[in-house]
Order: sequence, then C-alpha cells, then structure tokens
Amino acid sequence: MTEVLKVAIAGLGTVGAGLVRLLHSQDETIAARAGRRIRITAVSARDKSKDRGCDLSGLTWFDNAVDMATQSDADVFVELIGGSEGIAKEACEAALQAGRHVVTANKALIAHHGLDLATRAENAGVTLAYEAAVAGGIPVIKAIREGLAGNHISSLHGILNGTCNYILTTMRETGRAFEDVLKEAQDLGYAEADPGFDIDGIDAAHKLAILASLAFGVEIDFDAVAVEGIRDVTPDDLQYAQEIGCKIKLLGIAELTDAGVFQRVHPVMVPVGAPIASVEGVFNAVVTHGDYVGPTVLEGRGAGDGPTASAVAADVIDIAAGRGGPAFGVRASELKKVATLPMARHVGPYYVRLDVIDKPGVMADITAILRDEAISLENVIQRGHDPGAPVTVVLTTHKAQEEAMQSAITKIGAMEAVVEAPHIMRIERFDA
Ligand SMILES: NC(=O)c1ccc[n+]([C@@H]2O[C@H](COP(=O)([O-])OP(=O)(O)OC[C@H]3O[C@@H](n4cnc5c(N)ncnc54)[C@H](OP(=O)(O)O)[C@@H]3O)[C@@H](O)[C@H]2O)c1
Repeated sequence: MTEVLKVAIAGLGTVGAGLVRLLHSQDETIAARAGRRIRITAVSARDKSKDRGCDLSGLTWFDNAVDMATQSDADVFVELIGGSEGIAKEACEAALQAGRHVVTANKALIAHHGLDLATRAENAGVTLAYEAAVAGGIPVIKAIREGLAGNHISSLHGILNGTCNYILTTMRETGRAFEDVLKEAQDLGYAEADPGFDIDGIDAAHKLAILASLAFGVEIDFDAVAVEGIRDVTPDDLQYAQEIGCKIKLLGIAELTDAGVFQRVHPVMVPVGAPIASVEGVFNAVVTHGDYVGPTVLEGRGAGDGPTASAVAADVIDIAAGRGGPAFGVRASELKKVATLPMARHVGPYYVRLDVIDKPGVMADITAILRDEAISLENVIQRGHDPGAPVTVVLTTHKAQEEAMQSAITKIGAMEAVVEAPHIMRIERFDA
C-alpha cells in the first residue's frame, strides 16, 4: 500500500463532524478501496471547546482555516464551512495556491467561483472536487462527469432542495398553509432559522448552475438562472394540481438549445406519473437526458450529516486512488461561453388561479384576453356559483409563450371583476 493520504478538514458542523465519523468508522473499507489509508491530520472551526460528537484526539487544531490550508501537514484541504465569499473562498484559494487538492460541499462557492477555482486547480496540477455540493448524498456529479461522459446531455431537471420538497409534500398531504409547515420544518431542523436561501430557490439555483455547466460543458453562470421560490404556493394550488393529475415540485430545469442555455428554478406542476413526482419529503432527485442513454434518474437524500459526508468521502477516496481530472469534465479553458435564454422565452402549458366576481360576461372577457395573446384554454374549473361574490377560477392552457402569458395576466389582473392578482404556475409534462 502506498503512502497515507493526509486530510485537513475546515468546518466541523453537520457535515464536518459527519465526515470525521465516517472516515474513522469506515477506515478499513476505504483503505481497501482507495489502495491507501486516509488519515485526518488537522481540523479547524471557530470554537475549540465545542463537543462535536466525534473523536478529534491527536489532530492538530487551527483557529484559522486559511493558515490550515497552507501550513497543515495535509495533501487534501476539505472545506466544510460554507458561504460563497470570505473565509471559505480564501482558504480554498490558499490551499490550491499551496498545491493541495481541495474538496468542498459548498454549492454557493462553486456556483459563484467554480470556474476560477477550477482554473487555479488546473494550474496547480491538483484536483478540485465538489460532489457533495449538489444533491448531497446522490453521486450526481460523478454520474454526469464520468458515467454519462459518452453522451450529449440536452436537458436535466431535478428536485435540488429537500427543504422545499418537504414543505410542498407536507402541505399537499395535510392541507396546511406554507407558513405553518415552514415553521414545522424549522423545528425539525430541515429548514434554517433564515430559510430564504432554500424557500426562495437560491440554493436550488446554485446547484442547477453547477449541473448545467457540467452537463453541457459551458461556463458556470449563476446569474443566468431565472429563480422563483415557493412562498406563493397555496394549499388550493396543491389541491387543484391533484385535480388535474399533477403534483407541485420546486424544480431546477436546464436545457441546451441552439439559441443558448436555459436555466430556471420555480414551482412546477408535473404529472403524477413523471418519475420526479414520486420523489417526496426531504429527498432529492436528478433526471438527465443523454442522446445515447436516454433518461436516467438518480434519487436519494440531498442533505444531512451522513449523506453529505458520504459524498465528501467519495471525493477524498478518488484523490487517494489517483482518480482526478478537470472539475467540470473538460479543462476550464474549454468550457464554452454561451448565450443564456430569459424566462420570457419559455414555452409550455400554464395553470392560472384567480378570484373573480361571479357575474355574467367575466369569463368571456378573460378568454378574449387570452385569445388576443394567442393562448388557447385547455380546461376551466370554477368552484361554486355565488352571483356577485368572489369565486375561484382555475384555468389551464395549452402551450403558450411566457411573454404572452405575462401580458395576459397583467391585463386580466387589471379587470374590475378580478379580486386578486392572478397566480400562474408552469406545467411540465416531461415524458409522462
Ligand atoms: N448540512 C447539510 O446537509 C449540507 C448538505 C450539502 C452541502 N452542505 C454544505 O456543507 C457546508 C457546511 O455545511 P454544514 O451544514 O456542516 O454547516 P454548519 O453545521 O453550520 O458548520 C459550519 C462549520 O464551519 C465552522 N466555521 C464557521 N466559520 C468559520 C471560520 N471562520 N473558520 C473556521 N471554521 C468556521 C463552524 O465552526 P463552529 O462549529 O466552531 O461554529 C462549523 O463547524 C456548507 O457549504 C453547506 O452548504 C451542507
């Protein structure tokens, strides 16, 4: 067996402590698979006195992660602190500069600085690995970069945020409101005290930007992702979705077209028969479409100490075994710069929910607005009949242009008989 691979771990929170436990408990198995032993030599976090539920005896403690990145006795620097800027970024840059391999679970960092870090890693002749940054324990980075390397991938979609999927699943199953279920998710530790990154779709957008770059061989472009979160999804929407044979999921969707790359994160109605519809609770899933392989579906736990440590460990084992290669599948300089498509270019069926005063002629006015925008109706559901009072009307359309839909919604929203601004949601049929 060749020399031991020495690892320094920055950040000993959920993932860091999980990794320490995993590397200790799976020591023999990992050594056999990597062909050499992996040994933690140094760790860094803010509070040295905190009990982290893992054995840190014999490890060198660093108060400063940047110092550890350059001064520790380590071949690999594992960054498990988080955040796109500040200490996590500085420490990764310092480690690469010092010729050390870098493994990170930090999607924000990779989404914003992945190209620059990949370039630095190539220049230094070391590996930058980030399996845990997307979909936690699911080995989706490896699957796309290696397992699907013989394919042109034209599109992918996924449930990339377990917190949102838990909230939407629970709202559907219990009929409870968003705020109520969010509070429960926070109590259960599924959602952060500041849940914005999750529920506003930012976290999913970070992951989607990474997947799109890897799958399509293009430069990572987080700013090009159109993002909407789940705050506006109501129990009524979930109920109506069921009535039209759908479930609501927060999806990240990336498509490679002749005109450029389209990346979007927003709530979507998907047919109950689509593989992604059966992914419930905190689970994540990614569906890719390759020209030779067709669709592939990967599902599993997207967060938590065990699943995330599992993914980080896989990266460290790859490095120990000498399996490296460019972070995004091709050299950073070969990643293509492509045009990005705005949300206005989206074409697909829509769901529209609106509260209107129940009086003759209102529906005729609404359908006239839709007709003028070349939008054709598929279905209309009206709840009850109460002349002069507000009733909820749900419309579904055939394929329409987003731009036309937005224009129609503005006009419908301005009608006197429309009580509240209409709420729209995109419907994706996929292959179901
Ligand atoms: N949690 C998950 O399920 C999950 C899943 C996928 C990816 N990730 C990613 O993994 C990374 C870590 O997440 P986490 O959930 O483990 O976070 P966490 O529980 O908040 O832990 C963060 C750790 O970083 C340490 N830290 C903070 N500032 C530091 C500094 N200036 N110098 C050194 N250490 C510092 C903290 O030290 P103290 O403990 O002393 O305060 C803590 O140990 C993030 O990038 C996250 O996005 C997490």
